[in-house]
Formats: sequence, C-alpha cells, structure tokens
Amino acid sequence: MNSNNFIDYISKINARMNILTTSNNKSDLPVCNYATEYIVNNRKLLTRFILLNNKEKLTEFVHKTVDYATKRIIETIIDLNQYIYINTFLRKKIAFVYEDYVTKIIKLLYFKVFNIDNLSQIITEHYVKLSNILASINEVKLIKRSKNIPCFEYSAKFQIELLNIDLNNIKEPILDLGCGSKAYLVKYLSTLGLDVYGVDRLIESKSNTIQADWFNYKLKSNYYGAIISHLSFTNHFKRNHYKKDGNHIAYARKYKDLLNSLKPGGEFYYTPDLPFIEQFLSPDLFTVTKKAINHPKMSIQAVKITKGSWRH
Ligand SMILES: C[S@@+](CC[C@H](N)C(=O)[O-])C[C@H]1O[C@@H](n2cnc3c(N)ncnc32)[C@H](O)[C@@H]1O
Repeated sequence: MNSNNFIDYISKINARMNILTTSNNKSDLPVCNYATEYIVNNRKLLTRFILLNNKEKLTEFVHKTVDYATKRIIETIIDLNQYIYINTFLRKKIAFVYEDYVTKIIKLLYFKVFNIDNLSQIITEHYVKLSNILASINEVKLIKRSKNIPCFEYSAKFQIELLNIDLNNIKEPILDLGCGSKAYLVKYLSTLGLDVYGVDRLIESKSNTIQADWFNYKLKSNYYGAIISHLSFTNHFKRNHYKKDGNHIAYARKYKDLLNSLKPGGEFYYTPDLPFIEQFLSPDLFTVTKKAINHPKMSIQAVKITKGSWRH
C-alpha cells in the first residue's frame, strides 16, 4: 500500500487553497471532503491491507506515511513563504498529529465500526489540530494575508558573476549554505573538479549535498576554503534582524560560527549584505569587500569576507 499519491494530491489542494486561508468554519476545510471521499472509495482496499498485515508491517506503514506527510506539508508551506522556519520541535509536533490521524483511521477501518460521521470527525479534528499548529508560526500569518513569498533558484553562472567569485583562485573545500533544492552551483563547481558541498533543508542528501537545517549543521573550525551563500543564509538573517520577534540571535551566532569555520585565507561570499553585523568585524582579522548590485527596487551588495589578513 502506498499512500504517497493521496498525500501528494492533498498537498496540491493545500497549496492552492491552503488550510490557513479558509474561513473560521472548520467544516469548510477544503481538504476534508477529498480525504473523506478518498477513504470511503478505497475502504475495501484499505481494510484488506490492514487485515492482511501484521503489527510490525502496519507500524512501518504508519511511520512511512507520517514521515512523507510531514515532509510534504512542510514543503508546501515553505513554498508559500520561504521565510517560514520549522524547527525540530515543531516538526515533531506536526508528525505527532499525523501519527494520531493515521492510527485513528486504521483503527476505524480495523474494528469495523466504520461510519461516515466517525470518519469525517477524525478528519476534521486532524485538520483543525494541524492548522492550529501551523497558524502559531510567526511567518504563516503573512500567508493568511495572501502574501506569498516564494523562493527562486539561480544558475551557477548568475551566482558566480553576482558574487564576483574568482574560480581560478577559489580555495577548497567549498560549502554552499542554502544551495537550493537543485544545487546548481554545487553541481557546476563539482564538474570543475572542485571539492564542494551543498547544504539545504530542501535538497536530497547525496555524495556532495546534505539535507539539513543550517542551524543544525555542524561546522568544523578552520576548515573551509570558501563558503558561499547566495540569497539564502544572510537573506534570512536580515529578515530576522528587522522583524519583530525575529530569531536574530541564533543567526548572529551561526554567522560567527561560519566565520570561525573558514581557514586562514578562506573567503565567505554572500548576498545580501549585513551592515548591522559587518561593522563589528575586527579589521585585524577580516577584510570586507563589497560590490553594489544593480537592482531596480533595493539597495543591496555582494560581500566577500576574507579571513586572516593578519598584520602583525
Ligand atoms: C532563495 S533560495 C536560494 C538558493 C540558492 N542559493 C540559489 O541562489 O539558487 C534560499 C534557500 O535557502 C534554503 N533555506 C532556508 N532556510 C533554511 C534553513 N533553515 N536551513 C537550510 N536551508 C534553508 C531554502 O530551502 C532555499 O533553498
């Protein structure tokens, strides 16, 4: 039994008329009707699957379904607003709500006390719980006002030019922090034979890409020859710095860790610039080079921080 198609379809409905933009009438939740219809239509198949499998197999099915559903709902809301941040605690809370939901549906089908009212009550309760958790996230309130803030990804050539990266002199290993789900820059640099790694919450982990939250990604000190972050880490840092109840302290700490993880002579390339923190960098330890970017609406700069221009 594979529940992924069902979850994918639900995600599409959520993306179009997401559960956060509905009225206060909880029975209006747009995905509820579809979920009820799906389970009623597939009831025989689902019940057969439940009866034919032992407890271990069903537990495995629940885990897989819960993991996939959690991943998809997070992707869906991040897609609506890239600044939404789901930490480990929140992810666990969402997964717990899904686990409760799937388990209740299985029990309903297994014990043959199935009736449509019981089913729709479980489904509605689930969506109310889920939408309450999601609505507690600061940035989600912006989605409610239908202000979607999607996230774009850029070609390697575009990023290299904009950040003024000198490929003939770049030092390794290279870390692209917030490399994007397509990791264009990582792929390109690796075709040049460079030792490069990309980290992103949306990338699939492979030989040189790592799916991770940048707050959880452990950085070795004095290690990287170059760190690159095009419209990702510093973009989020800037937003959190200026936002009421933003998480600017965690960003400032991570920024410090990033500088610490450069080896002497290593470079940190990024945009947008962070004047509010760059001004405090010791000129004895770091050289800050800035280049204005031609942008019709904003005044932003591309930055290169070079570590270790010691002048003893
Ligand atoms: C605008 S995209 C830029 C991607 C890439 N650097 C480019 O220019 O094509 C920003 C990226 O930051 C990633 N991101 C945002 N918050 C993150 C977090 N907490 N941990 C890891 N990646 C994150 C997003 O998943 C997204 O891929």
